[in-house]
Amino acid sequence: MNPLLRSVVTGVGGHLPATVVTNDDLAAIVDTSDAWIVERSGIRSRRKATDDQATSDLAVAAARIALSRAGRDPGDVDLIIVATTTPDLTFPATAAIVQRKLGAPIGIAFDIQAVCSGFVYAMSVADNFVVRGLARCALVIGAETMTRLMDWTDRGTCVLFGDGAGAVVLEPRSGEGTIADRGILGFALRADGTKQDLLYVDGGPSTTGTVGKLRMQGNQVFRHAVVNISEAVIAAADTAGVTMSQVDWFIPHQANQRILEGVAKRLGIDGNKVISTVAEHANTSAASIPLALATGIEDGRIKPGQLLLLEAMGGGLTWGAVVLRL
Ligand code: UT7
Repeated sequence: MNPLLRSVVTGVGGHLPATVVTNDDLAAIVDTSDAWIVERSGIRSRRKATDDQATSDLAVAAARIALSRAGRDPGDVDLIIVATTTPDLTFPATAAIVQRKLGAPIGIAFDIQAVCSGFVYAMSVADNFVVRGLARCALVIGAETMTRLMDWTDRGTCVLFGDGAGAVVLEPRSGEGTIADRGILGFALRADGTKQDLLYVDGGPSTTGTVGKLRMQGNQVFRHAVVNISEAVIAAADTAGVTMSQVDWFIPHQANQRILEGVAKRLGIDGNKVISTVAEHANTSAASIPLALATGIEDGRIKPGQLLLLEAMGGGLTWGAVVLRL
């Protein structure tokens, strides 16, 4: 491995399906209210894919934007990793379907299943390919149709999730081995399978033979989130050799505004350095971080050269963080 090779983000893109579902729309089907959802989660609306839109369609749309912003085309792509918990099919991997739809050449393509932490896991895996010289143009995509997993009679979950996709292009660039380098500087990944019952889907090919519905003990997950995420963020920052005060933008998984604020406070990160899209996107699982990154870049807040801290927690439980310089 060349220690001076870094995986640099050269393009970012996000895609949301057109259909907007407001809190009032949901209050018409379950016993909830706009006031409750906004107060407890910060969510005001979410997007919903149409029946004929698959996860790969959202992924391809985001990937095309990311590739174009990187000045690349599908013919350059040699690695595709899709982080998703809502694949098109049980197999093949959604990444292989994305490869076909993009018209990308034969290369490496596979999915990562770490639920809401999927994008953080996928970035770390892609980094290992890129810094070893095994990929020269990697697409890392978080794409989800979480609305397909909802029990629309369960007000404790169906108001929280939405659909969407975000993608980044990672390319190798030489670095000096310092924190001034562009690229991924450090990461930390965690899983605790003993907490499965707090957040899971009650179906699968080898058990029920069905897709299943999402089940969550929200308040328990909430408690774990703030404490566990902070530990992983500090571990990732230590690996990278950076301190919280050096971070320009904190780009958390968008599950709940109160979790975003709780983690930022615990880490001593100023509220105005937090990118929040939870109000309009809701929780898009593995897509939420790249969608938030795309939003922050598109509105001009996040600029090349800035130090970014990404973190997430989800089913498993899994959690983790990535530190990178754009
Ligand atoms: O991305 C994966 C990770 N997931 C998360 O990070 C989600 C973490 N959890 C959360 O975001 C929050 O726990 C929720 C937003 C899910 C819930 O907020 P909470 O403040 O923890 O509320 P709670 O679950 O303790 O429920 C409080 C009350 C309950 O009623 P009782 O038992 O006090 O009478 C619920 O039945 O709120 C009730 N409730 C609702 N009321 C109106 C639950 N869902 C709703 C709803 N509308 N949609």
